[in-house]
Amino acid sequence: MQTILAIETSCDETAIAVLKVKKTVSNYQFEVLSNVVASQIDIHKKWGGVYPELASRAHLEAMIPVLTEATRPLDKEIKKAIEQIDSIAVTKEPGLIGSLLMGMETAQILGAMFNKPVINVNHLEGHIYSAFCAIGKKPFNIAINDIFPILALVVSGGHTSLLLMQDHLKYKTVAKTIDDAAGEAFDKVARIMGLPYPGGPEIEKLAKGGNENAYNLPIGLDHKQDFSFSGLKTAVLYLTKDPTTGKQRKYNRADLAASFQKTVSDTLIQKTKIAVRKYEPKTLILSGGVSANSYIRDRFQNVSSQSTTNNRLPTILIPPKHLSTDNAIGIGVAGAINNFNK
Ligand code: KG4
Ligand code: ZN
Repeated sequence: MQTILAIETSCDETAIAVLKVKKTVSNYQFEVLSNVVASQIDIHKKWGGVYPELASRAHLEAMIPVLTEATRPLDKEIKKAIEQIDSIAVTKEPGLIGSLLMGMETAQILGAMFNKPVINVNHLEGHIYSAFCAIGKKPFNIAINDIFPILALVVSGGHTSLLLMQDHLKYKTVAKTIDDAAGEAFDKVARIMGLPYPGGPEIEKLAKGGNENAYNLPIGLDHKQDFSFSGLKTAVLYLTKDPTTGKQRKYNRADLAASFQKTVSDTLIQKTKIAVRKYEPKTLILSGGVSANSYIRDRFQNVSSQSTTNNRLPTILIPPKHLSTDNAIGIGVAGAINNFNK
């Protein structure tokens, strides 16, 4: 049994988790001891998006309180708690450089002081492995074999990528956005409509009372494998404002939110179906901040039954909602598996 401390600071959440992990002949078995996330949403709200320098400073302020709380199940004294840890997993990339450095520095210093190995993890791997996690502190298993190939759609504020994993942590990108990420499109459309940051949850709320067929919006790179959301964002902008005079137009807010959300969902599903047909995955994952959206989760659940030509339907995994957005559990899982495979 190994104990892992995991640190995630790639954007605007200071997240630290402690996990126990054991490898058996057929699977990795995880138990979550703590999962602490300090969100900076209130700091960034007034800027309408993440302000990178403020994000780094907020990580610095949150780090010790979050570390203290996350390590408390091991011992109430940080020093005694960290002595019990076997390794430290930390997000290395991609993300905001100043934010990443806060987590990396913390991991490096703790690693040097307590003589613990530091495992660097890619942020997207954290999102992928979050999909295997159970709700709350329930233990969960991840099979060593039998789940590959995995096709993972990671949809967040910074990424919209389809990744094909042939074995644990061995993967390639099969499609990605050529411009905005899906979460970025939610945030920008929310801003156009005067809604606060982050836009995704706000649009989801507003869309509940709307008619999703009221506005006909475009799917970027229609019927192609890659994603594009900038045309959709511009279409929304021109519905709200005349592009030549700049005058505000009248529109139904709930209908526009619902039509936008439906079009993002149609786009994600169209591209996923193309890849499912091509790669015939055994497991299909939806993860990243946008996967917290209930409408998109529900639509995605039906993808597999409509897309394969043979009888083998992929198993669909979506993280519990609180692990769709940035968290350290997924980073700890990816770090632990990486450690076992060294
Ligand atoms: O994964 P994440 O926490 O951070 C990044 O790695 O970017 O994703 C944040 C993104 C934001 O763009 C946010 O608007 C979006 O996820 N998001 C949502 C929802 N909750 C968060 N988008 C749509 N519907 C939601 N309910
Ligand atoms: Zn993320």
